[in-house]
Amino acid sequence: MNVLILGGQGFIGHNLVLRLLEKGYNVTIFTRNIRKNINISDCKYINGEFQEIRSFKNILDNIDIVYHLISTTIPGKSNDNPVYDIESNVISTVKFLEMCGNSNVKKIIFSSSGGTVYGYPRFIPIPEEHGTNPICSYGISKLMIEKYLYMFNDLYGLNYQVVRISNPYGPYHNALQQGVIDVFLSNILKSKTIEIWGDGSICRDFIYIDDVVDVFCTMAVKDVDAKILNIGSGKGTTLNDLIHIMKNVTGADVDVEYRKGRKVDIPVNILDVSKAYEQLGWKPKTGLDTGIKMTWDRLKNEV
Ligand SMILES: NC(=O)c1ccc[n+]([C@@H]2O[C@H](COP(=O)([O-])OP(=O)(O)OC[C@H]3O[C@@H](n4cnc5c(N)ncnc54)[C@H](O)[C@@H]3O)[C@@H](O)[C@H]2O)c1
Repeated sequence: MNVLILGGQGFIGHNLVLRLLEKGYNVTIFTRNIRKNINISDCKYINGEFQEIRSFKNILDNIDIVYHLISTTIPGKSNDNPVYDIESNVISTVKFLEMCGNSNVKKIIFSSSGGTVYGYPRFIPIPEEHGTNPICSYGISKLMIEKYLYMFNDLYGLNYQVVRISNPYGPYHNALQQGVIDVFLSNILKSKTIEIWGDGSICRDFIYIDDVVDVFCTMAVKDVDAKILNIGSGKGTTLNDLIHIMKNVTGADVDVEYRKGRKVDIPVNILDVSKAYEQLGWKPKTGLDTGIKMTWDRLKNEV
């Protein structure tokens, strides 16, 4: 199977690439700023800017499956420039879908965001049918892309799957980007103070990356009725709970500073993941304590 991964050198992408190579797939990665430190000789790399994707005319030749893992923005900063968010994510994706429509691509698997598309939840846990009122441009762009995928499927038969991921964590995370677990652990390793926006009661649904990769791999070979699936642990953990677990796992004195809360941070987000179980027989395997320990052990070894 020939697979193209847009953004295949990022956190989710790199973990996915390692697994797909184990399975014997031919992997091509499209990314900007190729990171030499995680370059894998078995992959083909295409260095490029997503907004210029149309100039890569042969990029879809012989490709069966596309994973779309590029995001040019993150939730907390996307409201600074919504126009850039739309241009670089939504418009670039629509241009790419037009290219897919004229190709032999069998399926496009899109990494959406269960943490932002729903906005303030009316109830917990949040199923896929819950209303969608994102309070950040990042979430609105994800939803727009989901809608275009639906449209391209309806009009041109382009098969797709949307994966609404909660809060993934684990190895190869870019700690400057999203992901409190990875940011907190790397601060602990450097004996730096952990900053928490608000009083630490913010509650999130954390999922270990290997469990997410399991779903992405299954999606390459299996079609399900539900084109949109939540992927998370289905459990809520507050930031204060996280600090407690991290103290136990690392044995370190953890210094925490509480800052004024940010409006963009929804108080609670826990996904209902029962549909993923119904459709795929998938359940997350890694508990939070174990996942944090594995992430911590790996971080320590990288130093
Ligand atoms: N990490 C999370 O917490 C999380 C949660 C839900 C959904 N997602 C989504 O999953 C996807 C992957 O997330 P991640 O954490 O691996 O992100 P990441 O930032 O680690 O990786 C993104 C990759 O895309 C590449 N990229 C970004 N902009 C590009 C551009 N304009 N042109 C070419 N390449 C570009 C980057 O170089 C990088 O390789 C994203 O779409 C993200 O929105 C992430």
